[in-house]
Amino acid sequence: MANTVADVEAALDAAGLKNQHVREYVKYWAEHTGAERVEVVSAADDARLISEALEAGELLPAGEGLYYSRSYFKDTARSEERTIVATNNPADAGTYNNWRPAAEMTALQKENMRGAMAGKTMYVIPYLMSQPASPLERFAAGVQVTDNRPVVLHMIRMARVGVEYIENLQDPNSFVRAVHVTGDLPNLGQGTPDDKRYFVTVADERTILHFGSSYGGNALLGKIAHGLRQAAYDGWASGQFLSEQFMLIGITDKQTGRKYHICGGFPSASGKTNLAMMLAPDDLGDRYHVEFYGDDIAWLWVGEDGKLYAMNPEFGVFGVAKDTNETTNPTALGSIQPGSGAIFTNVAYNPQTQEVWWEGRTKNPPSPVDGWLDWKGNPIADREPGNTEPWAHPNSRFTTTLSKVPNIASDFEEPQGVPIDAIIFGGRTRDREPLIRAITDLAEGVYDGLTLGAEATFAAEGVDGQLRYDPMSMRPFMSYPEAAYAAHWLKIVGAAKDKPIFAHVNWFQRGEDGRFLWPGYRDNLRPLLWLMQLKNGEVSGVETPVGILPKKDELDLTGVQVTPEDLDRILSIDVARWRQEMGFREEHLKQFDGLPEEIWEAHRRVAAALDAAK
Ligand code: GDP
Ligand code: PGA
Ligand code: MN
Ligand code: MN
Repeated sequence: MANTVADVEAALDAAGLKNQHVREYVKYWAEHTGAERVEVVSAADDARLISEALEAGELLPAGEGLYYSRSYFKDTARSEERTIVATNNPADAGTYNNWRPAAEMTALQKENMRGAMAGKTMYVIPYLMSQPASPLERFAAGVQVTDNRPVVLHMIRMARVGVEYIENLQDPNSFVRAVHVTGDLPNLGQGTPDDKRYFVTVADERTILHFGSSYGGNALLGKIAHGLRQAAYDGWASGQFLSEQFMLIGITDKQTGRKYHICGGFPSASGKTNLAMMLAPDDLGDRYHVEFYGDDIAWLWVGEDGKLYAMNPEFGVFGVAKDTNETTNPTALGSIQPGSGAIFTNVAYNPQTQEVWWEGRTKNPPSPVDGWLDWKGNPIADREPGNTEPWAHPNSRFTTTLSKVPNIASDFEEPQGVPIDAIIFGGRTRDREPLIRAITDLAEGVYDGLTLGAEATFAAEGVDGQLRYDPMSMRPFMSYPEAAYAAHWLKIVGAAKDKPIFAHVNWFQRGEDGRFLWPGYRDNLRPLLWLMQLKNGEVSGVETPVGILPKKDELDLTGVQVTPEDLDRILSIDVARWRQEMGFREEHLKQFDGLPEEIWEAHRRVAAALDAAK
């Protein structure tokens, strides 16, 4: 039986949800989707919802206060080509935002969603994508409705969830309407010409309409669709801030007492979470401490004191499981301990022992294999000999809250944000990009972000290993034209009186034999410390056409596993290879009509310097 308006009113009353605009929105979608009942959730409902999900088999127990979930096997990553940013203005069409008219996409999604919650509960999730009282709080409130209980449980971990976040809005209508309908996953034609999935942000109406997935990157609307796409659009439309796919860390030098803050963009599955959770390497641990602020999203603005500030709008971590272990990322393991409430998705699972495992968790998979199931739920023991398919999906994830992260910054809940010293860009690039190259000029820094080229990864559907341009790592989240995006960057960061230093980093250069030339992980602190020393004028580096590189003896490499030949490779520039790259960049930038002249000038300066180089 479908709900009646009286039932919905009663559910809203029971939850103390009084905001009339929210009530109207909820009533509309309850009616439209034909949901059987409506339930408003707050973070305090977590334990009850967990029990219900365990009872229903949506979650499986994975140890004390730990949970396992499996998504439909064709629903394991963000789907970029099904993702659309719609508005009412055709001039908003850019290269990567897949622009479509708002009216067309709204009509299509309403048709997809009509009656689609029949027989189901519609959960109402009021949330806030910021610390309460942050200067950007007015862009941060939203209400997700969803028919999927595990999605609710993920949202409770990833965002601040509760009725209180939408009851006292300065403008009671200023919340993002975020509608999520899972759809009939086995019958959506994922990846076929008849694909029925659409992930739409109607940016100028602050409305998100996602249909056809329960995977986190498509279904946690506060995080990806609001926190990145909608917020980037809002930041541009208001002229006030940037929203970027950035990690955000603090580095304290205990000897001098100075604290630095660095944020930066790397495409999905390229090391943001690991960098943010990084512990200082053993030899540097007495002097430096790295603090976690954020691992996937940062909002940046210029404060009243003229400094560039950043904050993480999220409340949790949705981290890649693969290769997470005691050596690579002890902090991540610390954040998913028994009792943490962490949820594992699409890893391997043993229902008999309630253990989970993923590739790289230990050197070898568990043995004997009795009881172990791969991420699709198939027994490992039934595998044909020689079957080398991974046990866990390469994009399998853990979800936990920020407060569970051992190196979480003590002031992560403070609303004022942190002043930014450096902005870094990076990605998986097997050649050309050195370990680090610093850029001191703003336009050249923005140019560098716009020409970020990296290998595709498993976090989005597509080809793994193929190089593609991903401006500022925002390609999947771009919500307005790239030329305007570049201009907005120059405007916001240009307004800061202390400019951050920029850098491009690459932890992923490989030898001919395919091995990584740089050990990465905790050792990544070393090039970042060099960058801070460069900014402070304590080291000078080597000028190259594409930025300043560290001199070998300027990096503290105590105990680092890297051969002198490999070090030469990752600290030098292959001029011929870079000249070739400049042609590709020119083609890439030409797609963006009306790109600011400063960006073209930066491009020409770099090209001329490369031409003049030996
Ligand atoms: P994110 O999606 O950008 O947050 O990336 P993650 O930090 O989750 O890392 C994605 C994958 O890259 C994981 O499998 C990591 O183990 C691996 N990874 C992260 N940092 C490094 C590094 O410095 N070196 C190497 N070789 N792999 C890394
Ligand atoms: P990631 O976050 O960047 O850590 O992979 C999730 C995503 O971008 O889909
Ligand atoms: Mn991301
Ligand atoms: Mn991450």
